[in-house]
Amino acid sequence: MLPVILALDTKDLDLASKWIKSSADQIDHFKVGLEFYLLHGFEGIKKLQQAADFKLFLDLKLYDIPNTVKGAVESVSVLNPKFLTVHASGGPKMIQSASKALPNGLITAVTVLTSFSEDEFSKLGNSQSIQQTTNNWASSAVDAGAKALVCSPFEVSQLRSLGLKSIFITPGVRVEGDELSDQVRVMTPKNAISAGADFVVIGRSITGQWDGSDLKMRKKIELISNSLD
Ligand code: C5P
Repeated sequence: MLPVILALDTKDLDLASKWIKSSADQIDHFKVGLEFYLLHGFEGIKKLQQAADFKLFLDLKLYDIPNTVKGAVESVSVLNPKFLTVHASGGPKMIQSASKALPNGLITAVTVLTSFSEDEFSKLGNSQSIQQTTNNWASSAVDAGAKALVCSPFEVSQLRSLGLKSIFITPGVRVEGDELSDQVRVMTPKNAISAGADFVVIGRSITGQWDGSDLKMRKKIELISNSLD
């Protein structure tokens, strides 16, 4: 299987199910995020799980006081997510509560969003660089019980060098020739894996190829697979 987590960013439940089926021979991790979850919720994910066997990356990017996050994690733990995201910036107490509430899954701390540029990040009042902030948040998150980290492929190599015991996941991945859209710091899947990512999250680069048939989408997955050989 490819070290790819396919982002099911759609409001259409049937389409999400089709994307899973069309790529299941090469991809076994699928990410459900806010676009899908806020419309179809718990039952929507159950339907996807009934239609196909896959590993769930539940990308809810939780961020609230520890007790509220604990309750939220308990509510979705029945879906058995392998990965469940929280914001690393929520702090160690929040991450500790989340980890305790998901003993059989991996609390995944999202560091600085890959859509940030250095300039935008500092204009928000952050005095340290994105890399430094990522390192600080990541170390604190892992100490508090996070088992996986999400960061830009540009931060993963330095982050890995800190020796944190974690799975490293990088979104912000584009194949040459793709549109950047709202992502600012992007790398190819091959370079992201070489830089130290265990998994890359890919959405539009693959799902944008869907045109009612899965031919182009499957071709793109093949292209990515060949590039990773
Ligand atoms: O379509 P694209 O490949 O840009 O999708 C990237 C996916 O990764 C989206 O679902 C987005 O929510 C997610 N993500 C991200 N940056 C982060 C964390 C998650 O782009 N730091």
